[in-house]
Amino acid sequence: MKPSQKIKQNVVNQIAKTTLYENVSELMKMQQIYEAGIKEIRTKLEILDAEFKVKHDHNPIHHIESRLKSPESILKKAINKDIPVTERSLEENIHDIAGIRVICNYVDDVYKVAQLLTDQDDIRLVEVKDYIANPKESGYMSLHLVLEVPIFLSEGSKPIHVEVQLRTIAMDFWASLEHKLKYKTDNNVPEDIKEELQECAKTISKLDLKMQNIHNRLNKKRV
Ligand code: GTP
Ligand code: MG
Repeated sequence: MKPSQKIKQNVVNQIAKTTLYENVSELMKMQQIYEAGIKEIRTKLEILDAEFKVKHDHNPIHHIESRLKSPESILKKAINKDIPVTERSLEENIHDIAGIRVICNYVDDVYKVAQLLTDQDDIRLVEVKDYIANPKESGYMSLHLVLEVPIFLSEGSKPIHVEVQLRTIAMDFWASLEHKLKYKTDNNVPEDIKEELQECAKTISKLDLKMQNIHNRLNKKRV
């Protein structure tokens, strides 16, 4: 990290800590609601996976991970994005307070699960970013969805946003290792390594298509 970036980060951390102290009870209330959103979507995904297994003798989902953004990270993001730290503004502008990662077996499973989930009556699709069809410059691939889901509270229902990242096991392997490398080098990955990582992403994408093809061929044989 450049010295100027470090200073900026320190300031952001400092402000985040102060603001955090003032807003902590508000944020804790929000955390509980977003935790409910994660549970809601996770259950929907588990039900879809189990039904798919019975119908098609195949589990599209390998595993599911989830995380709730910490109050400190929420505030850091709000400060970096220059948005007001009010419940309404955070809810409108930060879409990944509740985050779910769905690791699928094959590429087709990614799109199938996304379709089945977004087709449900109580889910509204707010945003789609298809980094599988259009990988990021780094080589990163995943399908990102922002969903709106109602949470039923004592005072009535409240719609909240949940970010869902869907990817294959192979894409997840690349993303986790690349994330660690970025962290280790303070986000200053040398150019030659960046290029190698892009190459690895391309190899992984080819591998995913090969595995998909094998799966399709075997499935046809069994029918
Ligand atoms: P933020 O949500 O503010 O980060 O910006 P954004 O919404 O424009 O970002 P994006 O849609 O790219 O999604 C951000 C998330 O995707 C990150 O928190 C990571 O989990 C993941 N991601 C995006 N790009 C990369 C990448 O190059 N490498 C890895 N490992 N993960 C990435
Ligand atoms: Mg985002």
